[in-house]
Amino acid sequence: MTSEAPLGVFDSGVGGLSVLAELRRAMPRERFLYLADTAHVPIGARPDEEIRDLTGRAVAALHARGAKGVVVACNTASAFSLHPLRERYGPAFPVIGLVPAVKPAVAATRSGVVGVLATPGTLRGTLLRDVIRKFAEPAGVQVLTAVSAELVPLVEAGQACSEQARAVLREVLTPLSKAGADQLVLGCTHYPFLAGSIHAEFGDTFNLVDSGSAVARHTQNVLETAGLLRQGEGEGEVAYLVTGDPEATRPVVATLTGGQNVTVQQVTT
Ligand code: DGL
Repeated sequence: MTSEAPLGVFDSGVGGLSVLAELRRAMPRERFLYLADTAHVPIGARPDEEIRDLTGRAVAALHARGAKGVVVACNTASAFSLHPLRERYGPAFPVIGLVPAVKPAVAATRSGVVGVLATPGTLRGTLLRDVIRKFAEPAGVQVLTAVSAELVPLVEAGQACSEQARAVLREVLTPLSKAGADQLVLGCTHYPFLAGSIHAEFGDTFNLVDSGSAVARHTQNVLETAGLLRQGEGEGEVAYLVTGDPEATRPVVATLTGGQNVTVQQVTT
């Protein structure tokens, strides 16, 4: 695999674009293949085995298209798939995943209460439990969770700033605010796109914490160590691939990336 090859980025939908933005900021020369499994989004409430299977198929599609590695830019997919993927591809094809950003939230809290907003899958997975055990419990920090199955479809539909999104956020986050949480871990890559709606509803109640910039730094280190960081001249670029209707996703990708002439291609996984 050469450093000129693109880096794969996978999410069930457009949420991973929040991670892609950080990856591009950290590595402006890199080429990316962004795959959104829009035929199956949302995956957050699907059974563990199905989440693992869908993620495996998507990563195989990126591998087959010549990606030099993959960032699983989805907390739910990461929660169930990182170990099997690393076993399958070995060290020559780096697989980088996401863990909810509990560590920085624990370091920043003043109230001693941290909220985590995530999908049912991420709340069920072991990665979240591990970081709570490792960082929150020894520090005596209480972690409260909030879950919603409605937020991902709203972001997918380009409705992140809608009254409906704000109503869902009001409902699921009010208990955390009442319990004194001052940090809110955005445990799903779709949720950074809800930041405006969260601020509109809750003002400065929560400091919002996500893993986008940390995973971008980590990815840069992994590629550098593996000799896979692109050295070539010129700007990087992104090819957008979807498994569902490209015309439905194109305007949402354009809005969320601030891009104008976005091309979205349909693929099967
Ligand atoms: N962006 C995915 C995550 O980070 C959304 C999962 C879903 O499709 O429900 O978990």
